[in-house]
Amino acid sequence: SDTEKGTYPHFMLKEIDEQPFVMRRIIQEYQDDDNNLKLDQDVRDAMKACDRIYIIAAGTSYHAGLVGKQFIEKLAKVPVEVHVASEFSYNMPLLSEKPLFVFISQSGETADSRSVLVKIKELGHPALTITNVPGSTLSREANYTLNLYAGPEIAVASTKAYTAQMAVLAILAVDTAQAKELQLDFDPMQELAIVANAMEVLTEQKEAIEDLAKNYLATSRNAFFIGRSTDYYVCIEGALKLKEISYIQAEGFAGGELKHGTIALIEDGTPVIALATQSEVNYGIRSNVQEVEARGANAMVMSMKGLEQDTDAFVVPHVHELLTPLVSVVPLQLLAYYAALHRDCDVDKPRNLAKSVTVE
Ligand code: G6P
Repeated sequence: SDTEKGTYPHFMLKEIDEQPFVMRRIIQEYQDDDNNLKLDQDVRDAMKACDRIYIIAAGTSYHAGLVGKQFIEKLAKVPVEVHVASEFSYNMPLLSEKPLFVFISQSGETADSRSVLVKIKELGHPALTITNVPGSTLSREANYTLNLYAGPEIAVASTKAYTAQMAVLAILAVDTAQAKELQLDFDPMQELAIVANAMEVLTEQKEAIEDLAKNYLATSRNAFFIGRSTDYYVCIEGALKLKEISYIQAEGFAGGELKHGTIALIEDGTPVIALATQSEVNYGIRSNVQEVEARGANAMVMSMKGLEQDTDAFVVPHVHELLTPLVSVVPLQLLAYYAALHRDCDVDKPRNLAKSVTVE
């Protein structure tokens, strides 16, 4: 069942493995019998009516929001701001005339997000909640809800909710584009089905990732994830996974920012994990890898099929370039899992962390 581990040693590993099935469930739930996108008309109307979207979230959900901004801006042509919930209230940005607030929350209970919702409701602005828990507070108190259909997520480190959030955001972006009668050559359901298959291939490559975790992360104090463009957002999620459960000090950086500080931290043997799934920045990220290697880093490149080089440590299957985060995060989730395992950490219940933070 969804709330039992079965033959799995940890919920986290089970939930990583469930991701292809979650993708297929999302495809089913958001499609009607004629293969058209199926979203509530009032969500469509709200998306079409707004002049700017404010995404509010925390933790991993915030990282999904950063990717969601790309989907919505590129496909639906609506400007999007992404805000960390706890910071939003201190320096509330000047709002547009017709804002729509989108709360992304696995649990639907995060206190920091809830307090933003209270505030913006006082101002009379509409809100849409994207959550894995129908009936949660954020869902009940918002005007509209989209469900993630990921099934219960038990491990503190979020995995399947993150990829589900990005999938639903992609569907929402395409639906909005259609409502606005924009021409797209992007079929979200077809592309998500390819993503589901790619995820399945990746979950069958656990041994290779376990070896990488042992070789690169078994004894290191710190680790850096570097990427450019969309890969950068996946890097900060990969770093969050690693720090949460293995307690390795991990940070994600934009490749271009390395030279402005982080490169000073590179020593002999420092692990650097570079993502290379975007053709536009393939050259740039690979120069970064050379720069850190020249300073002694123990660098590994995770690339996408079609952009790979012989020396790459791991290659993920090819998917549509917009959707690479849903696929490239899987080896990073597994990397964090095996690093934690080999360092004897409590994978499902890391110290000091809660699954849902219901206090501000
Ligand atoms: C906690 C959890 C994280 C999660 C964050 C936001 O910190 O440990 O895994 O990403 O809260 O939670 P939410 O339920 O709002 O997505």
